[in-house]
Amino acid sequence: MARYQINGGKPLNGTVLISGAKNAAVAILPAALLVKGKCRIENVPDISDVRILLDILAGMGAKLYHPEDHVLEIDCTDVQCTEPNPALVTKMRASYYLMGALLGRFGKARVALPGGCNFASRPIDQHIKGFWALGAEVDETETYVALEPGEEGLHGARISLDMASVGATVNIMLAAVLLPGQTIIENAAKEPHIVDLANFLNTMGARVTGAGTDTMKIRGVNALRGGTYAIIPDQIEAGTYLAAVTAAGGNVLVQNVIPKHMECITTKLQEMGARVINYDDAIRVIRSGRLRRATVKTSPYPGFPTDMQAQVCVCMSLANGQSKLTESVYETRFFGYCTELESMGANIKISGKTATVTGVEMLHGATVCAHDLRAGAALVIAGLAAEGTTYVEDIHFIERGYETLVEKLTALGADISRIED
Ligand code: EPU
Repeated sequence: MARYQINGGKPLNGTVLISGAKNAAVAILPAALLVKGKCRIENVPDISDVRILLDILAGMGAKLYHPEDHVLEIDCTDVQCTEPNPALVTKMRASYYLMGALLGRFGKARVALPGGCNFASRPIDQHIKGFWALGAEVDETETYVALEPGEEGLHGARISLDMASVGATVNIMLAAVLLPGQTIIENAAKEPHIVDLANFLNTMGARVTGAGTDTMKIRGVNALRGGTYAIIPDQIEAGTYLAAVTAAGGNVLVQNVIPKHMECITTKLQEMGARVINYDDAIRVIRSGRLRRATVKTSPYPGFPTDMQAQVCVCMSLANGQSKLTESVYETRFFGYCTELESMGANIKISGKTATVTGVEMLHGATVCAHDLRAGAALVIAGLAAEGTTYVEDIHFIERGYETLVEKLTALGADISRIED
């Protein structure tokens, strides 16, 4: 099993280029199933979740071509398959977007339940509620979801989500763009990747309005046509590098970002003592001296992202005084990394949704295990900031979502290597 070896305690300096957004890519690639014609998609991140998704789509009959790095041409015109390979579907979380995309394209689907990062119970009842409202008959078992048109056929509908679920919003969008009538999603998720998916669909001829607000409207169209689209930069990858510099110290220009998407993260890092300078499509982060304690509560966009909880916890572990970190999206997310961080010297007490983090002067190297993608990223940051050598195991989780992490950190002066045992 591969692992990372990190000799920590070195500040990070230089420039890092952020890749395309994972959570946008994993929604946009299934959306290509709805398009008759060729989509040219640019800024596609080269990460394992995207590679699995492309294998699934290729197995279904999609024609894929990589004219250059990070550019994908995909043509799903001839796809007939409505049952993607379950062995691949269960390898990742976002494969459940195939449900919405296949329902939208063919009116039916049979898709295995997804795998992926299991840091919490991750129900899909809101996705199912959406499909049902759109007129689908839903057969949900312990291993798969099968969808077909109900007696009255598929049609637009008004759906009010119980919580602003990213996944349910995406699945309903995918299912609804080609249906007759209008679909309204109330309490829709507002994350940047939701807006990106809407922009992709509209570029291909869909009529989606209100993406990025609580209420999204989708007027069904007869067909989507091919076109060219570039995926937005990854907010969480960028946030991870900003947190790494905040924890380990240094001066780094993080390039290819949308600073507006980063405000929810940079505000907190600034409160903790990082200096942040915004440019049009880059952010410079500078950190020297001891960090200050902070209070952070995760919440859906534009709040502080749950996907940055673990990374900011590492910064808190090194801050002066007692910080409070409250999780409001996935309560059990602390368990993926806090014990590991404690083995590196962190002082964290968890009570319900809140972790109280008492800062220490220095973390020390240890052998730790990545239990999920963001937890793993946080342990890498801890290793970069710590004295001594850290080994991070189970790095396949990290490679789901961080492109060339070792190369990017090495270019910033980190001493990190990937070891194949
Ligand atoms: N929820 C339900 N029922 C549902 C759907 C969600 O109860 O049908 C609950 C969840 O249990 C959770 C909350 O609603 O408490 C929000 O879940 P959401 O549906 O928004 O999350 P998701 O779609 O499963 C996406 C990202 C996650 C990210 C969350 C929150 C993708 C592929 N995944 O997951 O990203 O943590 O939104 O922002 O977009 C990651 O990138 O590491 C990652 C885990």
